[in-house]
Amino acid sequence: MLTGKKILLIISGGIAAYKSLELIRALKKENAHVKCILTHGGSQFITPLSVAALTQEQVYTDLWSLKDETDMGHIRLSREADLIVIAPASANLMAQMAHGLAEDLASTTLLASNRPIMACPAMNPMMWAHQATQDNIETLKSRDLQIIMPDDGDMACGETGTGRMSEPENILKSIIEHFKENKPLAGQKAIVTSGPTYEAIDPVRFIGNRSSGKQGHAIADALAQAGASVTLITGPVAIADPEGVETIHVESAQEMLEACENKLKQNIDMAICAAAVADWRPKALKEHKLKKQDNQDTLTISFTKTPDILQTISNHGERPTLVVGFAAETQDLLAHAKAKREKKGCDWIVANNVGDKAVFGQNENHVHLITAENTQEWAQTTKREIARDLVGRIVEYFETIKK
Ligand code: C5P
Repeated sequence: MLTGKKILLIISGGIAAYKSLELIRALKKENAHVKCILTHGGSQFITPLSVAALTQEQVYTDLWSLKDETDMGHIRLSREADLIVIAPASANLMAQMAHGLAEDLASTTLLASNRPIMACPAMNPMMWAHQATQDNIETLKSRDLQIIMPDDGDMACGETGTGRMSEPENILKSIIEHFKENKPLAGQKAIVTSGPTYEAIDPVRFIGNRSSGKQGHAIADALAQAGASVTLITGPVAIADPEGVETIHVESAQEMLEACENKLKQNIDMAICAAAVADWRPKALKEHKLKKQDNQDTLTISFTKTPDILQTISNHGERPTLVVGFAAETQDLLAHAKAKREKKGCDWIVANNVGDKAVFGQNENHVHLITAENTQEWAQTTKREIARDLVGRIVEYFETIKK
């Protein structure tokens, strides 16, 4: 499955462009997001309309289109993809890439890109065999560009030889392989806490909070997508366990702490504490259901502190390399969140304002990321998107400390 993977497909000029329509369908079936650039040459073989219909996205054709360029379209296109696939890759486009030319939207995007690129050449056998093309291929390979070699066989031009674009199913396989091999957090272990905790008052009642678990679950999911082995430790929620994530269900703060400490024995690389853990629990658990007395107008329950899981993990003998906490505040958000980072001893705090009920249970969130170095405000977006961005930052962090 390529769920959530963003693929930029560049279709350049060649009769094999028709096979790219099949490739788009196959990618969509695997749940990938596909955006396309269709070059002038490509549009001689297939139309922007058929590409748009299959991708259900705008098709990009023109470097100078004002609408796309107001937000620096080629830069954005080149950066937001997880993988750029060029299919078919014409001899001309590969020559432009080898020599750093930026003459149209496709070549400019490729020159501006820092993303992995896979090229699927398709051309006449003589063009393929030409020393110029072979030299260009060698240059591109030396820059870590992945080439899906063309097949042998009869060509549309009537000649026979090497130059047919690899079949879409084969290209799809290579794309899936690429994501398997290149998961940025492969080999890393993560724990994520999520949801509320319920603190029992008596056998039927508890004190809890409105956390839905959406943010924490989305983070566990995004970490797993990035290749990490993830253990999600969640309080009671009404949402499904994320796929490919070991999920441990707990109720109280004490149970959540025990589950976390158990996992810490396994050399955990990162802990993301997104759970809304209760700060207090009733001092004594009543053995039987509290009965309402006839003459009773009020009820007093004494509370005692729950363990602070984030603080315990941050100061643990087996502390993960990166510990991230959350701060939900209703006032003085940044000041409180910064103080919390220091007090608890975690590395980062994701701070959000929960004062206006716009967060709990909702799909969107508006957060600040507070690190030792700085505070960044992130634009309001979905909790899933925030999870992906946070995982992006985590990947960068681990890459930096590896160097
Ligand atoms: O102190 P406060 O509850 O505002 O801190 C929020 C952060 O601390 C969150 O990351 C939450 O998961 C974590 N926390 C915890 N254990 C507690 C209370 C909060 O891990 N008992």
